[in-house]
Amino acid sequence: MKKKIALVTGGLSGEAIISYKSAITVGNNIDIDKFDWYKIDINESGWWFENVKGEKSKVNREDFSIEVDGEKIIFDAVLLCIHGTPGEDGKLQGYFDMLGLPYTSCDAATSALTFNKRYTVAVAAFGGINVAKSLHIFKHTPIAPETMLQQLNLPVFVKPNNGGSSIGMSKVNEASELQAALDKAFKEDNQILVEEFIKGREFTIGVFKTKGQIITLPMTEVITKKEFFDFEAKYKGLSEEITPAVLEDVYANKICQAAKRAYEVLNCRGVVRIDFILNEATGEPYMLEVNTVPGQSAASIIPQQVKAMGWTLKNFYTAVIEEAFAY
Ligand SMILES: Nc1ncnc2c1ncn2[C@@H]1O[C@H](COP(=O)(O)OP(=O)(O)O)[C@@H](O)[C@H]1O
Ligand SMILES: [Mg+2]
Repeated sequence: MKKKIALVTGGLSGEAIISYKSAITVGNNIDIDKFDWYKIDINESGWWFENVKGEKSKVNREDFSIEVDGEKIIFDAVLLCIHGTPGEDGKLQGYFDMLGLPYTSCDAATSALTFNKRYTVAVAAFGGINVAKSLHIFKHTPIAPETMLQQLNLPVFVKPNNGGSSIGMSKVNEASELQAALDKAFKEDNQILVEEFIKGREFTIGVFKTKGQIITLPMTEVITKKEFFDFEAKYKGLSEEITPAVLEDVYANKICQAAKRAYEVLNCRGVVRIDFILNEATGEPYMLEVNTVPGQSAASIIPQQVKAMGWTLKNFYTAVIEEAFAY
């Protein structure tokens, strides 16, 4: 019998729009000789099963089952395709754990941890990975910009701690700009990260586990025409992505090693994408963040990296789904 897979898309954040695009690529590439898949859309209006005709019916939240032609369908596993909450921050993972339903992403604890940029770099640093010096600031305990700049050197990055897609983020070059950047980030989140700017080339690398082995995908260099890889650079084509990246083996190896180490230290599962800056002053990679449900749209980085590795997306998603049953 073919395994029944719920392809879960949508989500409750601004990233939902990207989740729907990811689900199209994934859905088109699930091996239908091996799996029966069903599209589940979790959005503000509810949890819905959508059939091929686009007709919607409610998901039973008691056991995450659906009804198709009068027959109850219980899933064997969930293929998570939600970027942002509740699919990337551990909430759905906790729910699926309670149901005993396998899923393709990191577990609840790792998802929640990595959704917080500061906690991510703190744990990674403990594991010996280089990260930028930063301050973690809460809205309820404001700190004067001057105090921050006694501890950090300009330029700094100011980012919402739990955001994504570079929303609410600024690069601050002058002390006089810091307060405005803090205000902007606090509009998105009640905790933020003020982080020293690392100068150097930017790389992002997919990592996944199959049959117990951690594999790094061919990495991508991100070259942006903006001052940093911001929302416009990401989604309006104001950046260039080169896959596989062209760089000397010694640096490529350092990035691969750091990526594998981060995957291990953070106890990741499934496919994640890790952002690094190769610090031009030291020649060492500095980790920025871990995306535990990276974009899978046709234009996204992970599908490009999979192709660069010489795998078909079909084989890749089969490996990702099969790995979910290993836990
Ligand atoms: N400390 C830093 N030094 C240099 N560039 C940074 C730093 N932090 C962020 N950036 C730039 O901002 C972009 C977005 O930051 P990131 O932490 O990856 O958040 P997200 O991708 O979730 O918006 C990065 O891709 C990079 O271009
Ligand atoms: Mg990023």
